[in-house]
This record gives sequence, structure tokens and C-alpha cells, in this order.
Amino acid sequence: MDKIGSQANDALTSPAAQRNREPIAEVLRQVLPETGRVLEIASGSGEHALHFAAGFPTLEWLPSDASPEARRSIAAWRRTAGLGNLAEPLALDVTSDWPVEAPLAAIVCINMLHISPWSASEALFAGAGRTLGEGAPLIVYGPFRKQGQHTAASNARFDADLRARDASWGIRDLEAVDALAETAGLVREADYSMPANNACLVWRRRAC
Ligand SMILES: C[S@@+](CC[C@H](N)C(=O)[O-])C[C@H]1O[C@@H](n2cnc3c(N)ncnc32)[C@H](O)[C@@H]1O
Repeated sequence: MDKIGSQANDALTSPAAQRNREPIAEVLRQVLPETGRVLEIASGSGEHALHFAAGFPTLEWLPSDASPEARRSIAAWRRTAGLGNLAEPLALDVTSDWPVEAPLAAIVCINMLHISPWSASEALFAGAGRTLGEGAPLIVYGPFRKQGQHTAASNARFDADLRARDASWGIRDLEAVDALAETAGLVREADYSMPANNACLVWRRRAC
């Protein structure tokens, strides 16, 4: 993420978020409920949160991130936007306690699973199982391997680069992620192909 504005301004900008926010919003239009609280995990710069809170004014958008720098950026963008349905960023590390009240109407997580250890993927699905309301969706965006293969040569190169930066990172196998979902009581409903060889996956929390 790049810094924009003056040194006093904590707002960060991510060129990828600028590019993918509208394709992701198109999926969200088909998946999100009309009302309720949507928790965004790993909001990063906060540009997605701003775009989605503006685009879905009847939802309450709860951005969050484990990183203080990201939370400062989200708060800086939030101050400029004046959106009544965009909450203050939550300090939420998926592997610790989640400071949110259940039931949530939806959870959105963009580009975290491959840039965090596998324990973060496990924690995301376990937390979704604990906090989503019955039938509520978990929407996860990013690159995935499918049936043991990368979906593009560029993803294979990206995966090697990630693993060189941190051996615990890497593009996840969709089948392994589906197994986490199953254990958490979530059922996969959709797999949208997205630009730049990414996918947007939707699971829903089963009725108890
Ligand atoms: C590649 S950035 C993606 C940010 C944003 N979602 C986007 O697409 O622009 C990955 C984000 O995941 C966050 N993250 C990594 N591990 C996390 C964890 N255990 N819990 C919550 N957030 C985490 C990082 O702080 C970072 O903001």
C-alpha cells in the first residue's frame, strides 16, 4: 500500500483495491442482504470499506484490521467520507477474540488468506461459524489453486514470490479452504471468476 497526501494524513492507497473494488461490489450486490451489520476482515487501506459503505447505504459497514497502520488509514479515509453507515475500524486479528456481537449479516474478506499463515484461514472460518447469522454469507476474494493447480502462470509466479517473502504465506487450495468451511458449518454457494485470475467465493452459514 502506498501513502497518499501529506505526512499528517495517514490515508494509504492500494492500486489493486482501486481496480478490484467495483468488480467485487458487483458480486456483493448479488449476495449481501438489504440490511444488517457487515464485518469486513483485513480492510487494509480502507478504500474498499469506503466504496462499499457508499454503495450499500442500508447496511452498516464494520471495517477492521489487525494492523494499527491499516486502522489509522481506514480512520483517515472515514473522516474524509462522512458516511453515517461506516463504523470506526475495529482492532480485529482473526486469530484472537473477535470484538463483535453476533449475529452478523455478512462477512467480507479480501486478499488476506494468501498473505497470512494458514492459521489465519482456519481462524477466519471458525470465527465466521461463531458470528454469522443463519444463512448469512462469508465472501472471500483472492487467488486460489483449484484441483491442485494454479489457475494461471502469473498466479504460480505470485505464489513463489509470496513463499519467498514468508514461508507461511501462499495461495491456498480451494479444496482445503472448503474443508475449513465445512467444519465451521458453512456451505459453498458460488465461485465467481474475477479479473486478474482471482476468485470471489461465497459460503453461507447453515441453519443449526
Ligand atoms: C494484502 S492486504 C489486503 C488489504 C485489503 N483487504 C485489500 O484488498 O486492499 C492484507 C491485510 O490483511 C491483514 N491481516 C493479516 N493477517 C491478519 C489477521 N491475522 N487478522 C486480521 N487481519 C490480518 C493485514 O494487516 C493487511 O491489511
